[in-house]
Amino acid sequence: MSQPDSDQQALSPDATTAEASDYGVGEFGVREPGLRERGVYIKTFGCQMNEYDTEKMFHLLSAEYDPVSEPEKASVIILNTCSVREKAEHKLFSLLGEMRELKKERADLIIGVSGCVAQQEGSKILSRVEAVDFVVGTHNLSLIPSLVARAKAGERSAAIDYREEWEELPSEFDSLPRMREDGDIQKLRGYLTPVRALVAIQRGCNKRCSFCVVPTTRGKEVSRDPQEILREIRLKARAGAREVMLLGQTVNSYGRDLSPRFGFHTLVRQIAEIEGITRIRFTSPHPVEVRPEFIELYGDVPQLMPHIHLPLQSGNDRVLREMNRNYKVRRYLDIVDAVRTRLPSVAITTDIIVGFPTESAAEFEDTLRLVEQVRYHAAYYFKYSRRPNTVAVNEYPKDADIAASEVSERFQRLDALQTQISSEINSSLTGEIVEVLIEGANLGQLSSKKGRIPQNTLVELSCPDDLVGETVHAKVVHTSPRGVRAELLSTDG
Ligand code: SAH
Ligand code: F3S
Repeated sequence: MSQPDSDQQALSPDATTAEASDYGVGEFGVREPGLRERGVYIKTFGCQMNEYDTEKMFHLLSAEYDPVSEPEKASVIILNTCSVREKAEHKLFSLLGEMRELKKERADLIIGVSGCVAQQEGSKILSRVEAVDFVVGTHNLSLIPSLVARAKAGERSAAIDYREEWEELPSEFDSLPRMREDGDIQKLRGYLTPVRALVAIQRGCNKRCSFCVVPTTRGKEVSRDPQEILREIRLKARAGAREVMLLGQTVNSYGRDLSPRFGFHTLVRQIAEIEGITRIRFTSPHPVEVRPEFIELYGDVPQLMPHIHLPLQSGNDRVLREMNRNYKVRRYLDIVDAVRTRLPSVAITTDIIVGFPTESAAEFEDTLRLVEQVRYHAAYYFKYSRRPNTVAVNEYPKDADIAASEVSERFQRLDALQTQISSEINSSLTGEIVEVLIEGANLGQLSSKKGRIPQNTLVELSCPDDLVGETVHAKVVHTSPRGVRAELLSTDG
């Protein structure tokens, strides 16, 4: 599951990618007979927090609009954007160019922009692209129904104010919005899969990693009320969720801003009590926030899966200091050792930035050495990207950037090394019997299903539809650096 594309977005190795070519612009306006008139199509860029917000927007609009999997079936299109690296922003503006063309053909089409670019650029998007009807920031999702209503009345608006309160799902929420059964619905199940529930537990970030735009776009760290989190998980478990993925920028600092304080470890232990939830995961813990109670969760809470996504960023102390990560390599490795001691089967994955300003060739070698030492199951790596309003962009002039050719070369070397390691780890599973939670259809190949082993390695296998949501045993028959293929052995619920 290594990600050789610098432009992949991640909170963890599950992030989605978005292709402008998905749009099929010429086909907009086609409507199938017999469908409910109104559909909303949401294009999600970036991390799982955005996927979660997308799900929330579907809920918020569900009184009037059905989620649809094709933009041509939609009367509202929302682009849920990401700004963590520059390329994602470029994609947005090229897509908006296409939207302009669309609107020429269908004047009643409503187009909205949400997510981190919306938060960052606000009404500038309205002035730059006439086709956009509304812009909604990361703290204003609950305003979406009214923004759409205004758009219908011909009014263009932007809502990006910082709001203190947590925007909970509507209280009548008791299941996922009904998806339109239009024969192509599998495409939506990418994030509307009921088996794997994404649940935000905190928003924003109080860290100031010098490269990162997230604290500006998502605001300061706010923990969500634990009772609301547990309520959402209970509801999702009743709707068929078996695995829960807790989301936050530094999940292990959860609850310190609550009064009384509420530890992340307590939250995990309470989630483990919820009937139906057999797997718990989270992304991402921050090394600085790792406490003994956090380490003790591993091997102690059976539902907590043997996998930790622990962002490294660099394997060199000086670069880590420049990045303002507040830990040294030694500390990082101590955490890795501690978790592995408690749970030897644990899989470790990470994020790494290549070519941070001033990173020397020798310092990059330190990162390679660390990757070899830890032997990550998978890693996301990114070419450094200058972001507005970050410490790094102010500190280093553009001409201090490492030459693009040098960054590419480092990137390729890291990719080659990690691909080799992922390939070795996955191929060691050949012939093994693994436990797989079946999540749903394998996108692109609807006859097969996809699932994961406890270590989070992706599994592709053929099995009947009624096994979705079940944990099965399967024998690994083929492996690649990105995952494995397996054959079903037996069901054991
Ligand atoms: N707090 C989150 C990180 C969010 S951003 C977490 O711990 O998972 C996801 C990843 O994108 C980061 O870990 C980092 O590796 C990468 N990233 C963030 N800003 C970047 C930038 N300006 N250039 C390149 N990569 C970046
Ligand atoms: Fe960004 Fe660092 Fe927070 S990567 S989201 S500032 S922990």
